[in-house]
Amino acid sequence: MPAGRDAAQLREYDFSDEDFQRVRRLVQARIGIALADSKRELVYGRLSRRLRALGLHGFDAYLQLVESGDPHELQQFCNAITTNLTAFFREQHHFRFLAEQLFPALERNNADSRRIRIWSAGCSSGEEPYSIAMVVLETLGHLRGWDIRILATDIDTSMLRQARRGLYGGDRLEKLDSARLLRWFEPTQAAQQYRVREEVRSLIVFKPLNLVGLWPMRGPFDVILCRNVVIYFDRETQRQIFSRMARLQNPGDHLILGHSESLLDVSTQYRLAGQTIYRRRPDGSGR
Ligand SMILES: C[S@@+](CC[C@H](N)C(=O)[O-])C[C@H]1O[C@@H](n2cnc3c(N)ncnc32)[C@H](O)[C@@H]1O
Repeated sequence: MPAGRDAAQLREYDFSDEDFQRVRRLVQARIGIALADSKRELVYGRLSRRLRALGLHGFDAYLQLVESGDPHELQQFCNAITTNLTAFFREQHHFRFLAEQLFPALERNNADSRRIRIWSAGCSSGEEPYSIAMVVLETLGHLRGWDIRILATDIDTSMLRQARRGLYGGDRLEKLDSARLLRWFEPTQAAQQYRVREEVRSLIVFKPLNLVGLWPMRGPFDVILCRNVVIYFDRETQRQIFSRMARLQNPGDHLILGHSESLLDVSTQYRLAGQTIYRRRPDGSGR
């Protein structure tokens, strides 16, 4: 018997092709993600938890609620659909680039304004912006009177809550080297749980932001990290997002993507400058 039928027989709720198509349309329109067929069981599992929590008996009633634009349920829907895998210092080479090249260059180039702006777009539970903040302090901590800020945004409000708390348990910290753990975290009452120190936290502002919605900020950002976020977005959505990011950056500013992402056929406003590291071209410079 095919695995799909096995799964369908074990389901608590009916989940028809039409239900899955409705979910797909909602996800595409509200989040930007183009859900593959292979995600059907995953989606069923995540959304059936919402049906249970709401005491609903079927997907039709649930999808009507989300389609009606009910703000609370729409947010829960987005939280349930997104995948939030992240880690401290994930893709180490990007943090080496920040420490060894970009931040020293910004110290020289921004000496007049003494201002640095960084955006972590799709920050999940906070490990990415906290890693950036640690590197800022390690590299630029000697600077006095500079205005350095990291904006960290995500569509998923439950992840942002975790991120703001700044509390991480043993396994989340496994790959962090012990010198950084000692320097930038403090133990809490709970065994194996550490809190990011205030000095690190104070560099970051966490805000909800949907990359396919309105962006209230004006920039410019010296560097944007948008890593492992647009990977499931269709090309057109990616084009729009990177064109909007380009408007928030000056020529020469940096954009950093995740390991399996690329701007090939997506944007000509950036040129490749390293391993998934891009630089904003001057306007009208073409390829
Ligand atoms: C796999 S995590 C990547 C986290 C981090 N950037 C990293 O590389 O470790 C992707 C994040 O993008 C967020 N995301 C997905 N779609 C989004 C959207 N339309 N707007 C804002 N954030 C979104 C998800 O909620 C999730 O937290």
